[in-house]
Amino acid sequence: MRILSGIQPSGRLHLGNYLGMMQPAIQLQDEGEAYYFIADYHSLTTTTDPEALRSYSKDLALDFLACGLDPGKAVFFRQSDVPEVTELAWMLSCVTPMGLLERCHSFKDKTSRGIAASHGLFAYPVLMAADILIYDSDLVPVGQDQKQHLEVTRDIAQKFNDRYGDGLLKLPTPRIRSETAAVPGLDGQKMSKSYGNTIDLFEPEKALRKKIMRIVTDSTPVEAPKDPDGSYIVQLYQLFATAEETAALKDQFRAGGRGYGDFKQILFEKIRDHFAGIRESRLELENQPWKAEEVLHHGAHKARSVARMTMERIRAAVGF
Ligand code: TYM
Repeated sequence: MRILSGIQPSGRLHLGNYLGMMQPAIQLQDEGEAYYFIADYHSLTTTTDPEALRSYSKDLALDFLACGLDPGKAVFFRQSDVPEVTELAWMLSCVTPMGLLERCHSFKDKTSRGIAASHGLFAYPVLMAADILIYDSDLVPVGQDQKQHLEVTRDIAQKFNDRYGDGLLKLPTPRIRSETAAVPGLDGQKMSKSYGNTIDLFEPEKALRKKIMRIVTDSTPVEAPKDPDGSYIVQLYQLFATAEETAALKDQFRAGGRGYGDFKQILFEKIRDHFAGIRESRLELENQPWKAEEVLHHGAHKARSVARMTMERIRAAVGF
């Protein structure tokens, strides 16, 4: 089974990225041949400063490795080190109806937030389809916000196969973990950089605490019982805690006598402790920058050889 996913280097990673995609992807690296990449071609749709892009890519590599991506198990590479993917994207473009892309939420969302409506932004899902299809991927671990892109990928693959030959491209299946499909941010909306409600992965301890203290709560007084089910504190806590720990926290909510500040402190400690080892690994990797470069170099070599083989088959099929 081949597992594939990508993440854009467009700034600091947050808990939504971590829980929605990185953690499941890292778990899946034991279950098949995993291919994970830094989606830097995609980032060109929003990141216009070359130095920023270089630095985000470098940071993302260190972050993913620190979180547990094991280069002995998974192929880890930069999307732009495999330029064949843009050739496939062009071929897929030629079977993709405009209407399919016009229906995509992410284009509408991004342009409504003021991002330039470039052709690249519009065609973004086609490049994403090429990413997935060029590696004959079976399974794609992502968050809920990528579900439509996976549907588009399947549609495009089917159209391509209808035109050029059955079974030419493999139809992938999304893997969306229900508990972390849409991780809430500080205000309860989906955690997203564009909503300004994120908790970053490698937030320094003080800043992390400050952010967590900003989580939106209601005005129930300290003594009164509180409803755990609607609380964003509980929603985040349960993503890091065991079922027993979550049940215990919920009991404390219902019992009353403790304020939201106390519960936020408990959440802060949980998240801080979860990332303690990961922070250490991140520091070690930072001090040996050549290691990440080496991993990406090997990854690119491996990914590119697979992509080239696919393109031989596809080029012949379209009549080149
Ligand atoms: P990107 O970089 O926006 O996000 C990376 C991953 O993080 C997930 N995610 C979340 N999951 C749960 N809750 C949240 N609040 C949350 N916020 C972000 C996203 O769902 C995603 O899985 N188009 C992709 C990158 C990409 C790709 C691919 C992915 C390019 N080619 C091929 C898979 C396969 C993107 O922009 O992800």
